Amino acid sequence: MKIIRSPKQMQKTAWRWRAAGRSVGLVPTMGCFHEGHLSLFRRARRENDIVVVSVFVNPAQFGPREDFAHYPRPWKRDRRLAGKCGVDVVFHPSAKALYAKGHQTWVDVEELSRPLCGAFRPGHFRGVATVVAKLFQLVQPARAYFGRKDFQQLRIVQKMAADLNFPVRVVPCPTVRERDGLAMSSRNAYLSAEQRRRAAGIPRALQSVGEVIKFSSQKPISPTVILRKARALLRRIPGARPDYVELVDPRSLRPLKKVAGRALVATAVRLGRARLIDNRLVGRE
Ligand code: PAJ
Repeated sequence: MKIIRSPKQMQKTAWRWRAAGRSVGLVPTMGCFHEGHLSLFRRARRENDIVVVSVFVNPAQFGPREDFAHYPRPWKRDRRLAGKCGVDVVFHPSAKALYAKGHQTWVDVEELSRPLCGAFRPGHFRGVATVVAKLFQLVQPARAYFGRKDFQQLRIVQKMAADLNFPVRVVPCPTVRERDGLAMSSRNAYLSAEQRRRAAGIPRALQSVGEVIKFSSQKPISPTVILRKARALLRRIPGARPDYVELVDPRSLRPLKKVAGRALVATAVRLGRARLIDNRLVGRE
């Protein structure tokens, strides 16, 4: 496995692969790998000639009071795990190399960045869209893999790729969960043992929304009624402070006035030092 740190060298290498007709699969990450990341690496391995994983804790997507400085960076362990999954290249640039002095160009996917996490993390998705656009330019992947766990991010990247004509297929991948249902996340490491146990209440609250919809005799149902139970369940987790729990259209991410077909229930909950997000597709297929 090769480690590339220079953006220029990454792009030159990608040009060579392209000229040789080899397909490239890219998995963008911020490192601190868990099974969620590894599932993306394995899928990319199955579907492409070459697999590139980028490891970059992107300063542009963290707010001033967020966890950029504390974000875990277990580089040696990450390198070993990537190697085990058959990754060909880990692209690991420095912030200085990726955002040269005087950088002033940003990618803003306007409407999809506004609701849900966008309302609580101003500028976050602009940072995500910009770094992903840069990675697409440097790695020139045929396919890029993103987890549904970060559903809003996935939709934003899909929209950006379509709107800016990137010749890349954005591949959505299922959320990998712990045994008790908690979505895997690098930020779960911020939880104490007690908080970690309590965090399983988050996926349970989302599951309850699915059940209310499934077993309701009235169709369509009002989101207020459906969300009441989820909110109550989240409030019952000691120490949990939900930022939001919402039912939205899975394409537009706009709040639903009534639930008839498919819906996305999404939440962000602060628990101790961690801000945990999760979502579930509910309703009829
Ligand atoms: P990061 O949080 O490291 O996640 C990298 C990729 O792994 C994302 O596509 C994310 O959705 C996926 N992922 C994380 N947890 C997952 C889980 N439990 N199951 C399945 N997939 C999971 O997301 C980012 O990094 C950054 O915002 C990035 C896209 C790299 C831009 O900086």
